Amino acid sequence: MRLIILGLPGSGKGSQSKLISKQFGIPQISTGDILRRAVKEGMELGDKARSYMERGQLVPDALMTELVIQRLEKEDCQQGFILDGFPRTINQAETLDDLLKEKNMALDSVLELQVSDEAVIQRLSNRRLCSRCTADYNLLSNPPKERGICDQCGGSLYQREDDREETIARRLQVYHLQTKPLETYYKDKDVLRIVDAGKGVEEVSSEISDTLRSLPRVASAKG
Ligand code: AP5
Repeated sequence: MRLIILGLPGSGKGSQSKLISKQFGIPQISTGDILRRAVKEGMELGDKARSYMERGQLVPDALMTELVIQRLEKEDCQQGFILDGFPRTINQAETLDDLLKEKNMALDSVLELQVSDEAVIQRLSNRRLCSRCTADYNLLSNPPKERGICDQCGGSLYQREDDREETIARRLQVYHLQTKPLETYYKDKDVLRIVDAGKGVEEVSSEISDTLRSLPRVASAKG
């Protein structure tokens, strides 16, 4: 199964992609995670991407498409993948189309997680992550037992640089301007499925499972 997950920052793309990955046994390719790792490890890619990410802007298309093309070449993507955070511009989407066409592959679906700007501002400004094991907490919906400490490994919790109020506002602006047009792009290709992502994580996951099971290729594989 080849999937794209679209949606506002904080709509739950990462949380839901991880669940789909486990359920369907296909890799989650999060361009945000790849970039953050590159920044942390002091790689050249990280040096190039860092200032864009900290300002809540998109990293240039050329860097992103190169990164994704290389990742999709890997063996674990040959039976399918979930793209979480890519494409984010029409230009990226067209490059992906060309690549898939070259490989004689097609997308099964593009899931768009829909949720309000107000809800994602709340989610993102209250997100905290463990600096050791990367566990995800939310001060409102899933707080740690002890303030600032990870329940699972005792590591200290931190706030993502781009989860500060002014940067969240910029990320939302950038999404509406540069990424939202993908909704029409994929609707015209008849692969877009809308998911109500304003509900709890499990309810959203259950709606996604139902949607994916109804896709022709998945339904026919089940017999
Ligand atoms: P990226 O890491 O992809 O950031 P993002 O799209 O802003 O997404 P987030 O990770 O913040 O949110 P999410 O939708 O994955 O939600 P999550 O599940 O984490 O990209 C970061 C940056 O990298 C970009 O700004 C850009 O600079 C660069 N970049 C990446 N890809 C690029 C590309 N293709 N082109 C150019 N630049 C690129 O959940 C968020 C929070 O909400 C968590 O605390 C979670 O626990 C909570 N939550 C999730 N679901 C629910 C729910 N249903 N109810 C309540 N809380 C929930």
